[in-house]
Amino acid sequence: MKQLDPKSLRNAFGSYMTGVTVITAMSNDGKPVGFTANSFTSVSLDPPLLLVCPAKSLSSFDVFANCKHFAVNILSEDQQNISNIFAGSKDDRFSQIEWHKDEYGNPIIKGALTHFSCKTDRNLDAGDHHLLVGEVLDFSSREGHGLGYASGGYFSLALEREAAEISTQEKHVNVGVIIEHNGKVLLSQKDGKETLPSTTTDDNTNAVSTIQQFLADNGIDAQLGAVFSIYENTKTNTNYIFYRAIANSSETKGLGEYVSIFDIAEQDFATPAMHSMMTRYATESENGLYGVYVGQEEQGHVH
Ligand SMILES: Cc1cc2nc3c(=O)[nH]c(=O)nc-3n(C[C@H](O)[C@H](O)[C@H](O)COP(=O)(O)O)c2cc1C
Repeated sequence: MKQLDPKSLRNAFGSYMTGVTVITAMSNDGKPVGFTANSFTSVSLDPPLLLVCPAKSLSSFDVFANCKHFAVNILSEDQQNISNIFAGSKDDRFSQIEWHKDEYGNPIIKGALTHFSCKTDRNLDAGDHHLLVGEVLDFSSREGHGLGYASGGYFSLALEREAAEISTQEKHVNVGVIIEHNGKVLLSQKDGKETLPSTTTDDNTNAVSTIQQFLADNGIDAQLGAVFSIYENTKTNTNYIFYRAIANSSETKGLGEYVSIFDIAEQDFATPAMHSMMTRYATESENGLYGVYVGQEEQGHVH
C-alpha cells in the first residue's frame, strides 16, 4: 500500500469546509466535559441520528467512550473564543463560559446556534477515533450564522458574503492581501510609504477571485484565508477589502519585502486606516483570534 504522509493527509482532510461544534457530556463524578469538534455529521432523520468522532487522545475520551448521553452544540459565528477554549484550554473550560444542564443531564452552551441533546445509540472503534452515534432526544435551533472552519482557520459566511456583495455591487473595489510567512508580513512600498499588495476589481469579478488571480499573476504561492477588513473611504467613495493569506515560501516576487510582525506598528503606512488595520493584525496574530472590521475608514466595528 502507498505510504501516506500524515501531515499532508491532515491538510487534505482539513480542506473540507465545516462548521464548528462543541461536544459535551457529564462524567460519572458529575463534572461537565467537552471538546471542539468539526467531525459532526447528520446521519438519519428517522430515527433521528447524528455522528461525531472523539479522538482516543482526548483527556475526556473515557467519558465519551462510555457516556449514555451527550450533547452537540453548534457554535455561532461570534463564538470563536468558545471553540478555542474547548480545543485548547487546560483550565476548567466550563468556568469560562455560560452553560446549563438540560433535562437529560447534558451540558448546553449558551448562545450556540443549535443544540442537540442525545442518547448514545452506538459507540464504534475506528482507528485513532471512535464513531459516537447519538439518537436526538431534543433539539433547539435559532436563526443566525454558524462559525465556519476550513484549512485550519475560522471564517464567517455572513462577512464573506458581505465582502463578495460589495465587490460585485461597487465598481473598482480595492482588494488587498495580508500575506504572512513565518511570523513576517509582506509589505509593498508606494511613494515612500508602506502598503499592502493590492489590486482593483473589474466589473464582473468578485473580491475573492480578483485576489486569487492577483496572487497567481504575481507567482505568489499562498493559501488565501478569510476576509480581515471591509471599509469605505467616504471622502473618495472607495471601498477596500483585505484578506488574510499564508504564503508557502518567503519569495516576494518583486512585490515588496517581508517585515516581522513585531515591527508592524512602527511602519510608516500609506494611510492611518491601513496602520490601524495592521496594528490590529499584529495583536490578533499573537493568539490566532482574528476579527473582521466592517465600516468606514475611521468608524466601524470589529466582528
Ligand atoms: C475546529 C476544530 C475541530 C476539531 N475536531 C475534532 C474532532 O472532530 N474530534 C476530536 O477528537 N478532536 C477535534 N478537535 C481537537 C480537540 O478539540 C482537542 O484535541 C481537544 O479539545 C483537546 O482536549 P483535551 O485537552 O481535553 O484532550 C478539533 C479542534 C478544532 C480546533
